[in-house]
Amino acid sequence: MRIDVLTLFPEMFEGVFSQSILKRAQNKGHLELFTHNIRDYSKDKHHRVDDYPFGGGPGMVMMVEPIADCINDLKSQRHYDAVIFTAPDGQTFNQSKANQLSLYQNMIILCGHYKGVDERVRELFVTEEISIGDYVLSGGEIAAMAIVDAVARVIPGVLNDETSALSDSFQDGLLSAPVYTRPANYQGHCVPDVLLSGNERLINDWKLEKQLERTKARRPDLL
Ligand code: ADE
Repeated sequence: MRIDVLTLFPEMFEGVFSQSILKRAQNKGHLELFTHNIRDYSKDKHHRVDDYPFGGGPGMVMMVEPIADCINDLKSQRHYDAVIFTAPDGQTFNQSKANQLSLYQNMIILCGHYKGVDERVRELFVTEEISIGDYVLSGGEIAAMAIVDAVARVIPGVLNDETSALSDSFQDGLLSAPVYTRPANYQGHCVPDVLLSGNERLINDWKLEKQLERTKARRPDLL
């Protein structure tokens, strides 16, 4: 899969895109990540990418032309399955959306900023609008990182058996069971006996019981 992120702050992505699972996904050839600075597509001599809103109102609005030119440039090179716009008024992101996006070959993620982007960008180019929750971030960059990370980990082959995404919370509609490692006794706080029993059936029964218990207590809406 190839993901092109359009942003005014490409440097924000450097750390996140070059570490951990995203680094591994790229090294294994499962994922290609590119960032594009929208400002590079400004034809204005001061490289402006925003302007005052018609009709007045607070804040600046990202202009249609630099974004359109950047998207058209990318589209002239390959087909894109989706142009995603990160915005607080989009559809709320969840595991099933991440799974669905992981099936795409190429996608563009456009990060919003300021008071918003010119509505014509949304009308003419955007195919999906995604929010990562009911709160307002300063920009769409952190949302784009969350989406890329959640999508990358479910691309087949990115995770190995040990880190399999199948045991992630939400993947089976339930939260994950608690996990423990050595020492078995930390200052009198002991790991549940069943996990030390070696009995796979009992361990699996215990895990499912804990998953149900946790989901019922914390996220009854999922049941
Ligand atoms: N941009 C600002 N807030 C956002 C949110 N909650 N989700 C996605 N993009 C955003």
